[in-house]
Amino acid sequence: MSKKFYITTAIDYANGSPHLGHAYEKVLTDIVARFRRMMGDEVKFLTGLDEHGQKVQMSAQKQGVAPIEICDRLAGEFQGLCQRLEISNDDYIRTTQARHKAVVQEILQKLYDKGEIYKSDYNGFYSVRQEQFVTEKEKVDGKWPEIYGDVVEVTETNYFFKLAQYQDWLIETIEKNESMIYPRFRSADVLQFLKKEDLNDLCISRPKERLEWGIELPFDTGFVTYVWFDALTNYITGAGYGTDEFEKHWPADYHVIGKDILVPPHAVYWPIMLKALDIELPKHFLVHGWWLSSGAKMSKSTGDVVNPLDLIEQFGADAFRYFVTREMNVGQDSEFSLELFMSRYNSDLANDLGNLVSRLLNMGGRYTEGKVPAVSVDETPEQELRKLWSEIGGELVDLYENFQFHKALDRIFTFISGINKYAETRAPWKLAKSEDPADRAKLETSLAYMAEALRLGVVLLTPVMPAISSKVRQLIGAEDFAMLDGQLEWGTTLEGKSLGEKTILFPRPERPKA
Ligand code: MSP
Repeated sequence: MSKKFYITTAIDYANGSPHLGHAYEKVLTDIVARFRRMMGDEVKFLTGLDEHGQKVQMSAQKQGVAPIEICDRLAGEFQGLCQRLEISNDDYIRTTQARHKAVVQEILQKLYDKGEIYKSDYNGFYSVRQEQFVTEKEKVDGKWPEIYGDVVEVTETNYFFKLAQYQDWLIETIEKNESMIYPRFRSADVLQFLKKEDLNDLCISRPKERLEWGIELPFDTGFVTYVWFDALTNYITGAGYGTDEFEKHWPADYHVIGKDILVPPHAVYWPIMLKALDIELPKHFLVHGWWLSSGAKMSKSTGDVVNPLDLIEQFGADAFRYFVTREMNVGQDSEFSLELFMSRYNSDLANDLGNLVSRLLNMGGRYTEGKVPAVSVDETPEQELRKLWSEIGGELVDLYENFQFHKALDRIFTFISGINKYAETRAPWKLAKSEDPADRAKLETSLAYMAEALRLGVVLLTPVMPAISSKVRQLIGAEDFAMLDGQLEWGTTLEGKSLGEKTILFPRPERPKA
């Protein structure tokens, strides 16, 4: 029986256009989702948009439009990005959708009825810029840090969620469940935060005079719910909370998020909200690092400013996906640079993979009537190539399962270089000049080996480069790669299959457009 696998990304704020950080998180999640599908899991993949809040309300006021107009436009941009990147999400949630509002109101009412939410006066300092209450502790040298902008003292009645009473339970839960947070060192960050001091109850509302653009509290229409109660709940809305679907999908297997939103929202608020609602906790959080210079980068050599997302159109979604996956060690930060992008594109993709494919198709057309020939020779070069595959092929599933995608790609491209070296050693273009039948056998074997090795090499490129893998697969006449089972074994299934016309997979650009 297939295993269910529910994976989500963070939902993006509707307060600006998508950038590299958003794109990366979607690609990363997509790779996990596509890999799990190849492993036979029944995957549900959710992503979406976080639409309420002060910033959206303020920009709408400034532009003289309704907040939903801004959200609709950005929803178009973010969904467009998903399409451009070939993201295979099954659902796209918007927090302004009726299905989501209903779930938020349902859980608020439940918690209120259970006595988990109470009303209280709050007197404190409020950062207008950050839209949050701040405490004296946050002062540096007696002054509020720049990021808070103007800080004013306010007294406000609000609703609070009883977070503090769950502190010990949460510490114990995280300590017991070592694999809950990946990478593991992030668990230590969470525990440090939780053990440092007592948690405060969480303010979950804003009076409507100050914020209208939100979901109304069902038990007091003078207030809307604020930020995290609205946003985090998307994960259960998307799983069909309140319907029969829910049991099928929940608990989430992975919430994929950036490191900035682990503590406190995902690792503290979310588990406590679920616990208070008697809902099972998500199984894991996959926490990625940050792309530095995610917006724009000055190219050192050309002086051009490049928006990384423009590279999708210029070089194709697969090249972009390859680059971000190859360069980011999940969990660490990474620096974006156009130089590095170009170097990966030219050396790994155009030279190593692209040339291998065009070489094979070219020689197949010239020497073996466009067909994959039979293998009849087994000498040192063949044995060495098989040995290389048995080492590399044996590691890949494990690397994928442990989110070591940058290493998996490194290994796959080591193998692709190995195939090119094999081709150099056998030099079929020289063998083709000989009349000797032994040379003919070597020539045929070498083309068959190149084709089979290429098939093996691209199977597990599929989650990262779905379009290119599928193209290569068709060009060498291989069956589809939808299921991984049995695909990583060296075989002769391609014998007699037709090779496609010579194709340039990765055209070399003159120079990227500025
Ligand atoms: N709306 C909240 C998340 C709510 S989830 C219930 C939010 N939105 S965001 O638009 O600011 O960020 C969305 C995701 O993009 C987050 O996981 C965040 O970490 C990630 N990134 C934003 N900038 C990033 C980089 N520069 N690099 C990598 N990812 C980063 O937070």
